[in-house]
Amino acid sequence: MNIKIAPSLFAANHADLTGEIKKIDGAEYIHVDVMDGHFVPNFGIAPHIIKAIRPLTQQVLDVHLMITEPVRYVDVFCDAGADIVTVHVEADTQENIHAALDKILAKGKKAGVVVKPNTPAEAILPFVDKCSMVLVMTVEPGFGGQKFMEHMMPKVTAIRALLDKHNPTCELEVDGGVDLNTAVTCVKAGANVLVAGSSVYKAEVPAECIQQMRKLGQEAAK
Ligand code: DX5
Ligand code: ZN
Repeated sequence: MNIKIAPSLFAANHADLTGEIKKIDGAEYIHVDVMDGHFVPNFGIAPHIIKAIRPLTQQVLDVHLMITEPVRYVDVFCDAGADIVTVHVEADTQENIHAALDKILAKGKKAGVVVKPNTPAEAILPFVDKCSMVLVMTVEPGFGGQKFMEHMMPKVTAIRALLDKHNPTCELEVDGGVDLNTAVTCVKAGANVLVAGSSVYKAEVPAECIQQMRKLGQEAAK
């Protein structure tokens, strides 16, 4: 399995995003956390910031929308330069989540769904055909630097089985508390994209942390 690393810009120094993006240029994806102060009790990265960083990198911008009724704003994030846009299944009705995914796909972007810790694996099923990515939260969304929830691993394994059956090329991403140790746990459970905020940006040399995480992940995937 191809293991990809998605450092989370949320953990970067936002006074120097240009420098912070250079530090992670060895990663496949850049994870961008969007929050609205409503779906989660915090604020994240706004569309104009995404627009500003878009010309700085060729890397895939993996935009994680932690916002209520994402159908209202998915177009804005696609136009700002997102490559992948993921929406929470808990953020609206099933019909409106479908509408959000359809809008993302109509923009020629990749779409995905996210599940919070208390949401079961089966919640992805209505949307699985439209997804290039499923994201499993391994912390409650809203804040970086939280403790990894190891008890999410059976759900990761269950979702991997659902994807094998219904959409085998769909990627499976984990987000929250992922470091060099928990990355291995996640890959063994079935994840192939690892979001890492604090562990990458607090590392002495972020580029080395990214490389090491990918290497450990690839070994664990064998
Ligand atoms: C949490 C965000 C995460 C966060 C991860 O709501 O979705 O992407 O930035 O940060 P760490 O890796 O520090 O847990
Ligand atoms: Zn995230």
